[in-house]
Amino acid sequence: MKKALVAGATGYLGRYVVKEFKKQGYWVRAITRNAEQLKNLSEYIDEIVIGEVTDVGFVREICKDIDIVFSSIGITKQKDNLTYLDVDYQGNKNLLEDAQKEGASKFIYVSVFNAEKMKKLKGIQAKLKFTGALKSSGLEYAIVNPNGFYSDMLDYLNMAKQGRGFVFGTGENRMNPIHGKDLAEICVKAADGNEKEINIGGPDVLTHNEILAYAFESYGKTKKISRIPIWIRNAILTTLRKLTSVKTYGPLEFFMTVLAMEMVAPTYGKLHLKDFFLENKDNV
Ligand SMILES: NC(=O)c1ccc[n+]([C@@H]2O[C@H](COP(=O)([O-])OP(=O)(O)OC[C@H]3O[C@@H](n4cnc5c(N)ncnc54)[C@H](OP(=O)(O)O)[C@@H]3O)[C@@H](O)[C@H]2O)c1
Repeated sequence: MKKALVAGATGYLGRYVVKEFKKQGYWVRAITRNAEQLKNLSEYIDEIVIGEVTDVGFVREICKDIDIVFSSIGITKQKDNLTYLDVDYQGNKNLLEDAQKEGASKFIYVSVFNAEKMKKLKGIQAKLKFTGALKSSGLEYAIVNPNGFYSDMLDYLNMAKQGRGFVFGTGENRMNPIHGKDLAEICVKAADGNEKEINIGGPDVLTHNEILAYAFESYGKTKKISRIPIWIRNAILTTLRKLTSVKTYGPLEFFMTVLAMEMVAPTYGKLHLKDFFLENKDNV
């Protein structure tokens, strides 16, 4: 039986990846900083290891007997006293070094779609630094570059619930966000595939206006959309970068950047945003 290590198992994507590895017949080891967070995944996990990937001592031998190392570790909304370089780069690098030492056969890493176009952003720089290390490591690898996740589309649902949605510019830029379950299928398939870089998005290519329209529809409300001119977005970003720390402006600059550009990735999946909104409209 093949063995997989899942780093990021407590996250939106990682939880689906744990289930998908188990579904595909893998023995699964999952990393967490807090065992409580994996309680409702226990039937899919064979071994839980508790610790910080940023701690080299903890990571030592974590890949022992493992064939496939998967990592979706990265700072999204976490407010620990750690930087993108500490986590997205060094945390993953620690895992990579142990994977090499322990003889794992492949490392699957989740980066971001269009990362090269956003390399001015701090979070992206750390991810690209890690993918650089992965590519030159000599280990077999696959880098999955997904478009936005459905979990982040909940912000649109929230705006609709509050009664007003906001878009940058005309709101006509397009994206195809993806459900964690569909993306997990791609991540686990990468274990047996030959593709080194996989750009991927969900089944529906939508403008931001269309996404908001779906969100309002979920509540049966008439849509109200305000357009924020791009120059205002730029001014907000400049101010945030000057007045706040990277912990605050990092996630915001990422979202404000992807929401203001065309983000259409190759399409995949069966799970539609409209249905996701209907399922989650009472949870925001
Ligand atoms: N969300 C999107 O739209 C999107 C789009 C493209 C790519 N991505 C990237 O895909 C990856 C996964 O995203 P996600 O939405 O699943 O994120 P998420 O829900 O925040 O999960 C991130 C995972 O990383 C772990 N992590 C964060 N900081 C850590 C630290 N200091 N030490 C150990 N573990 C740490 C988290 O553990 P804890 O639960 O303990 O915090 C969690 O398991 C991220 O790198 C993200 O940038 C996201």
